[in-house]
Amino acid sequence: MAIQKVAVIGAGTMGSGIAGQVANAEIEVWLLDLPSDGDNVNALAQRGLERLRETQGLMSDEFEKYIRTGNTRDHFDQLADCDWIAEAVVERLDVKRALYKRIDEVCQDSALVSSNTSTIPIRLLVEQMPLSFRKRFAITHFFNPVRFMPLLELVCGEDTAPTVMEELGAFCDQQLGKGVIDCKDTPGFLGNRVGCFAIQTALQAAFDMGLSPTQADAVFGRPMGIPKTGVFGLYDLIGIDLMSDVAHSLVGTLPADDPFIKEAEKIPLMTTMIANGQTGNKQGEGFYRNGPNGREVIDLTTAEYSPSSRLILDIGLKAERDGVRHLLDDDSIYADFAWRVLSRTLRYAASLIPEVGTDPIGIDDAMKLGYNWVKGPFELIDEIGVDYFIERLRASNMDVPPYLAEAAGSAFYRVKEGQLQVRNFSGVGRLWAELKRDDGVVRFNEKRRTLKPKNTTEVASWYEIDGMAMVEFHSKANALNGESMAILADAIDHVESGSCHGLIVHNDAQHFSCGVNLQAVRGYFRNDDMVGLDAFLAHFQQTVHRMASLSAPVVCAPVGMSLGGGFEVVLHAKQVICHANSVMGLVESGVGVIPAGGGCKETLYRWVDKMDGNINEAAWKAFMNLGYGKTCSSPILASEQAMLRANDRYLSNRDRLLSQAMSAVKEGGEQQAFDRPALAMPGEAVFEKMLEWLDQAHDKGKLTPHNVVVATELARILTGGEIPAGQLMSEQELYDAERKAFLTLVQTAATQARINSMLDHGAAVQN
Ligand code: NAI
Repeated sequence: MAIQKVAVIGAGTMGSGIAGQVANAEIEVWLLDLPSDGDNVNALAQRGLERLRETQGLMSDEFEKYIRTGNTRDHFDQLADCDWIAEAVVERLDVKRALYKRIDEVCQDSALVSSNTSTIPIRLLVEQMPLSFRKRFAITHFFNPVRFMPLLELVCGEDTAPTVMEELGAFCDQQLGKGVIDCKDTPGFLGNRVGCFAIQTALQAAFDMGLSPTQADAVFGRPMGIPKTGVFGLYDLIGIDLMSDVAHSLVGTLPADDPFIKEAEKIPLMTTMIANGQTGNKQGEGFYRNGPNGREVIDLTTAEYSPSSRLILDIGLKAERDGVRHLLDDDSIYADFAWRVLSRTLRYAASLIPEVGTDPIGIDDAMKLGYNWVKGPFELIDEIGVDYFIERLRASNMDVPPYLAEAAGSAFYRVKEGQLQVRNFSGVGRLWAELKRDDGVVRFNEKRRTLKPKNTTEVASWYEIDGMAMVEFHSKANALNGESMAILADAIDHVESGSCHGLIVHNDAQHFSCGVNLQAVRGYFRNDDMVGLDAFLAHFQQTVHRMASLSAPVVCAPVGMSLGGGFEVVLHAKQVICHANSVMGLVESGVGVIPAGGGCKETLYRWVDKMDGNINEAAWKAFMNLGYGKTCSSPILASEQAMLRANDRYLSNRDRLLSQAMSAVKEGGEQQAFDRPALAMPGEAVFEKMLEWLDQAHDKGKLTPHNVVVATELARILTGGEIPAGQLMSEQELYDAERKAFLTLVQTAATQARINSMLDHGAAVQN
């Protein structure tokens, strides 16, 4: 059955997010809440829609047209022809039960019904309902914010029909873009069970061991492959009150001997902070706050705030680069803290097998998709070493759960005969089984384990998959340097020579690429090596140009951010198949330079196409976007800004990008060649107008002096500068103009100040 009409009941944080994601799939959805007193009876549902706008829950405002708002008194009859009804009302059993009775009276027999509950067992939710209802009822547990968090835990009840699970699973995966995990009906399911445990353990450990929030977050963050908010930053982000509520509602559902209960004990300082309204970012202060002179952090013993700056530890950097074990092999307090958190959390995860599942995949996936961990708990144990971990647990007088003990001398994952395999709990089928994903789901980080790179360096590698060349960037933030481009060039050589029949550029890191490595750029200007910098830029341009000129298919499949040089690579693919949450743009002007990897010329050509050949209008559009460093937060918006072409596509599920890219290369049908004839340039009249515009914007205080300098160089490239209107410029001349402008700007003190401040303090000065 195709799901063509949906109703979401409860227009709060989650309900509005779910409705938004259904709208993003271009499916009609009714968003209902309680009727309000007063003039606007649908005020609550409309507030949900506003929340969606505020949180960028929609790919574009245009998608609001799929959402109808209403109330449960006047619009309940709309449920009659809905194919899926998602309940996301307050977490109260009586309210949910009363609603199901009403739903059952109006909905069609085939309608799927689900609850977003975090804590109520499915058995309790539907025990008063007839079997005909229980058969088509499941829990669909989304994570907040729904558009951006890929995890969906799908929980089936005793009576849920397998077809219902399949239909809901397929819809949430392919239309809503979620990584769907089938879960048992156990407390907290998988993500929150392990995630809350990890967070609470880190919090308690910091208090017990006398670490400051800054110190704790320097360990429980990037070094462990956890988002950089750390534990205290995460509490502030979500809300200290909300996080405490989640922890305590989980306590209420767990057996009395569950180790989580001890970790969730209340901390007096936090009770006081909640009472004082110091509940985090929304309230303006929590563990951290922005003081008059910058960021401040609370002292966990005195509750006083003092200045704080992010702490970066050497062992942290080492761990981030070479593995989490480096955090443990040290005799500092940081290593003790890391051991306390990791030993308890990873051991807890292992103790949940076989209660919650019989292999590591569910828990590992839940932590990666729902908590943005780079590695799941079992992958972390493998990285640390199963035997090392077991020995240290024993030495710390901690017992070893059976599933962990079974892995002694071995691991939870292995590669055998080209297959990635996982360890099953003993006695459940074969000990080792292939890690199988749904058809069309290929995660490169898993695929990579079964492959040998054809060529590799510290920052990039390329592989051959089914006869295609696939380039992966893998430096920090996937910043690009000469080596990245050399790997790309090598892969292109192999496609050109016919030894590979197409090229894919993809990686499944958080972000495709944040652009050219600014450290490398700084190296050139510090050494006054403009010849070297010009050669680097020329090689970058030649490489992307060769990529665009290949006769074989070339697909770029980016996720997350593709900025600056990263986006210039994307711009030169014959087809882009990107994730629906992709963010793209050429942001170079912010650091005082201009795109010089073909970004200016490609932006101009694309606007010329979009403006039906009107070069003057195209130059203005390109000038504005590049000058302001415009980024687009969805492929829909990117298409409107000529950043994507007609044959480019997007997918809601990032795990399906690679297989779609591979099919596109095999079939080759949707590839669009680059036709880049010489352009009759706007010339000096338009150039002068742009300079006038800059002067006026500067006089009005809208642009800084150096903004004007940078934008002048942009104007010169995009119009041709002081040349007569209509004079032709070839694609190569545009490339040359980009390099010339880049070199001019990089030698100015103001650009160097911007780059230095970006590298040293994380933000470019406004000079
Ligand atoms: P919320 O408090 O933001 O929104 C609940 C909405 O339900 C409110 O707008 C309220 O007016 C409405 N409501 C209450 N009774 C109703 C009724 N009888 N009919 C129609 N609407 C009614 O709550 P939130 O956070 O969106 O949570 C909703 C559900 O999702 C809960 O079951 C919660 O446990 C679960 N959940 C929450 C997550 C979160 O991060 N907030 C994450 C995952 C699940």
